[in-house]
Amino acid sequence: MAKINSNYQKLAAGYLFPEIGRRVSAFTAANPDAKVIRLGIGDVVLPLPEVIRKAIDAGVEELGQISTFKGYGPEQGYEFLRQAIADHFQSQGADVAADEVFVSDGSKCDTGNIQEIFSTDAAVAVTDPVYPVYVDTNVMAGRTGAADASGRYEGLVYMPCTVENGFDPELPSEHVDLIYLCSPNNPTGAVLSREALQKWVDYAKANEAIILFDSAYEAYISDPSLVRSIYEIPGARDVAIEFRSFSKTAGFTGVRCAYTVVPKTVMGRNESGELVSLHTLWSRRQTTKFNGVSYPIQKGAAAVFTPEGQAAIKETIAYYMENARLIREGLAEAGIAVYGGVHAPYIWLRAPGNITSWEFFDLLLSKAHVVGTPGSGFGSSGEGYFRLSAFGVRENVVEAVNRIKALKL
Ligand code: MLT
Repeated sequence: MAKINSNYQKLAAGYLFPEIGRRVSAFTAANPDAKVIRLGIGDVVLPLPEVIRKAIDAGVEELGQISTFKGYGPEQGYEFLRQAIADHFQSQGADVAADEVFVSDGSKCDTGNIQEIFSTDAAVAVTDPVYPVYVDTNVMAGRTGAADASGRYEGLVYMPCTVENGFDPELPSEHVDLIYLCSPNNPTGAVLSREALQKWVDYAKANEAIILFDSAYEAYISDPSLVRSIYEIPGARDVAIEFRSFSKTAGFTGVRCAYTVVPKTVMGRNESGELVSLHTLWSRRQTTKFNGVSYPIQKGAAAVFTPEGQAAIKETIAYYMENARLIREGLAEAGIAVYGGVHAPYIWLRAPGNITSWEFFDLLLSKAHVVGTPGSGFGSSGEGYFRLSAFGVRENVVEAVNRIKALKL
């Protein structure tokens, strides 16, 4: 028998969203008449804007002609898309060049895979609660020991983000090499301030650490004074890698397209202490393991940056953010403490009564037929909290809020 990677056996539970899916399937099998409203996984529901569909169609047409047919594309992405992405960063005040952009099929993959270019003994810091991919991929790679009863892995540095500290994580007291930050945050919906991000960049510079900055939800920021890209922060080009996605921005969860920026100025060290370009390593990794995103999808992604594309996605984002407002205000009226949902499509709430996140999950599912995500699934500091996603059709969102209110929790 082949020996397995036993790090996988350290993983405390199944991946969060399939686990929720299993529980919901069991409930619907037992209650076939229940009209279940799903506000658990953050999955978009509105159709792709026409300008994007037309661009995808045009790409497909090109593949149908011998003169414009394309086989393998560049692993890093087509130049037309990388340039449009770089221009978009520049328009946000972030200095990014087209050849620093790597187009991919998702930020889940990229935030999960990036750890491969770092040493297996790199010290890793994550916020708590946290998008589980950052943690689980480091567990799989062997950077941790076992999980304790609360689900925290030995060897990882956890930085609590709580109501008490305004969801603003403190700098770790020990040295860390890798810091995962997500802003606007999944799951809390909080946005890190410019000052907070500067503090992290300064820490990373002083400690030769690398910030892995996930800004998959940056398009949901409505206050122009808030930071969308870490590269708006002086010094960040030396210490940060940024991940963005078309999934939540432009309705691409099923289409698949994202991008990662690795500035040519961001360095690590090899065992001899010499500086090594992380851009070169990530390029080596991607060209070996990835063959790029399909041409028509990259055409569709590039259309997102046209004036019509920008207008169309702003409309869908405004729709989801109106959902977020309805959830936030509706639950607050019901006396539930709510956070986030202003610059992010997630509402983070305190489970009423002294019950656990999973108990609240079961209560909402069985009594209101509403699915959310238990806060404890994002880490032990999420225990007692719950996440509702604003990605839903309006009438379902309104119905879900009414049903929760009717529970008189
Ligand atoms: C979530 O619900 O947290 C996201 O949909 C997960 C993801 O983007 O992978």
